[in-house]
Amino acid sequence: MPHGDFSPDNRACAVASTAVPDSGIGRMLVSSRSLAEYRAMFGLTDGDLRRRILDCPGGAASLTAEVNSGGGDATACDPVYAGSTAEELAILTQVDTDRANCYVRAHPEQYRWDVFADPDDHYRSRRIAGARFAADRRAHPGRYVPGALPDLPFGESGFDLVLSSHLLFTFADRLDYAFHHAGVLELMRVTRTELRIFPLLAMGATAPYPHLEQLRTELAKAKVTTRIVEVDYEFQVGGNQMLVCAR
Ligand SMILES: C[S@@+](CC[C@H](N)C(=O)[O-])C[C@H]1O[C@@H](n2cnc3c(N)ncnc32)[C@H](O)[C@@H]1O
Repeated sequence: MPHGDFSPDNRACAVASTAVPDSGIGRMLVSSRSLAEYRAMFGLTDGDLRRRILDCPGGAASLTAEVNSGGGDATACDPVYAGSTAEELAILTQVDTDRANCYVRAHPEQYRWDVFADPDDHYRSRRIAGARFAADRRAHPGRYVPGALPDLPFGESGFDLVLSSHLLFTFADRLDYAFHHAGVLELMRVTRTELRIFPLLAMGATAPYPHLEQLRTELAKAKVTTRIVEVDYEFQVGGNQMLVCAR
């Protein structure tokens, strides 16, 4: 547990910096973005939030908690929900919130400070969202479905809108093109109308995923239309576009 309210303690960042080589974040993060961040990343309207939503990967984001508490219908899916108790997940969420914040502090050139005022604000927001996720997972475990791309445990077209934040493209350093292709097709299988993916660039990169146009061409052959849409959110430098996929 960090000592201060708004930043991980120095010890946590020292541990993170030995575990995380400069070239990357290390083990894939389980991050905890808020509904406010999702609204901005995906250009979500109030009408969108009344649709049946799948958040995949859900990670420790609070979208599902916040949408359902507002009367909506959202489900989260992530492999991390398999075999971990609510307590274990809550601890992992805190550890990874510290780790992500340490990374942000160590790489200020990779971020813009419009979404968050500064690293303390980033930490505060992610801690609040992570705590909200943990409480909701405890109270409503059925909303958090274990599952992994490219093979999700849902039938066809069960959701109106699928949101996919910070897995595809973000972790292109370890997820190959075949995974991206199969992953998008699988997310499209479970949506009745639309899939939105954000961002379009890898962590630490400033240019979009290099195989994006090849992917779009192959998706078109599978009758999936794609559009790149600019959004009013840029935390990672250059990360202000989403991919909207539809049938
Ligand atoms: C950086 S987090 C993003 C979480 C959330 N969408 C957010 O933006 O805060 C990446 C998540 O992808 C999940 N993940 C890893 N492999 C996956 C797979 N094959 N299918 C679905 N999710 C996966 C991880 O468990 C992790 O929670």
